[in-house]
Amino acid sequence: MKYELGILGTGTMGTAILGRIVEEKKLSPANIALFDINRDKVLAFQKDGFHVASDAQEIADNCSVVLFSVKPQHFRSITQTVKFSEKNTILSIMAGVKIDTLRRALNYPCPIVRVMPNMPCKIGKGVCGVKFSEVDPVVQTKVNDWLSSCGGIVPIEENCFDAVTSVSGSGPAYIYMFIDGLIKGGMEGGLTYDQSKKLAIETMIGTAESYRNSTEPLSELVEKVCSKGGTTIEAVNIYREKDLEGIIVEGINACRKRSEELSKE
Ligand SMILES: NC(=O)c1ccc[n+]([C@@H]2O[C@H](COP(=O)([O-])OP(=O)(O)OC[C@H]3O[C@@H](n4cnc5c(N)ncnc54)[C@H](OP(=O)(O)O)[C@@H]3O)[C@@H](O)[C@H]2O)c1
Repeated sequence: MKYELGILGTGTMGTAILGRIVEEKKLSPANIALFDINRDKVLAFQKDGFHVASDAQEIADNCSVVLFSVKPQHFRSITQTVKFSEKNTILSIMAGVKIDTLRRALNYPCPIVRVMPNMPCKIGKGVCGVKFSEVDPVVQTKVNDWLSSCGGIVPIEENCFDAVTSVSGSGPAYIYMFIDGLIKGGMEGGLTYDQSKKLAIETMIGTAESYRNSTEPLSELVEKVCSKGGTTIEAVNIYREKDLEGIIVEGINACRKRSEELSKE
């Protein structure tokens, strides 16, 4: 095969992954071919040394691993017109498209990697839930290496992909809301937006980093920050009274249910 990686769909997520793989020097642009029905969008990459294919069939014919980074509702327009072969490993980031559904649409016993990335992959600080199906171990190692340039990798059984969507795929929206609350609260106390933003973000990152390798229960860590008769407990009491944790879980459950519904459509 002429190219190691072919990308079908150079939109937000396709280019985020592409950007990281090249930035981390996992592959050079000369090893990557791109196709998008939006010609202007994909031609913009030509000057950087990527090969721009004239159609999706050229990607299937010349690329070992083919990334499907089109919207879920668009993949059949590819599988109905393009002939893939045993030489192609399919890498899919399409939300709600099950491995079996994709394999049936492709109509050959193809190796498939299903991945659920998230938005921070764009800066290499994201996380991907990954499931390999019938993929050669050498190709698995290669794909894991590429994906590691986007952030963490968590191997997931396929029946848990909706849960992955509800925690990490959609998670950036919930975290943005929490940061928004922290910033606004700080500003109510007289901080400027910039001061409050810096304090909020460093607190979020620092707390998450401290917890990364901790084995202490979170409830005990909360207690450690709350000294008796102190300040933190005043806020924590309100969050407990209003069941902040319950609200977060309720939202995640609603998100997961919607993801399950979309997977059936
Ligand atoms: N964005 C996220 O945060 C995120 C997170 C996790 C997973 N995903 C998954 O990533 C996939 C891509 O999402 P996105 O946000 O990157 O979408 P996007 O920005 O719309 O990118 C998709 C690109 O594919 C093009 N396209 C449509 N039909 C095509 C075809 N038949 N052949 C080649 N290219 C075609 C689109 O062109 P037009 O614009 O002209 O239609 C567009 O440029 C989705 O399946 C989504 O579920 C996204």
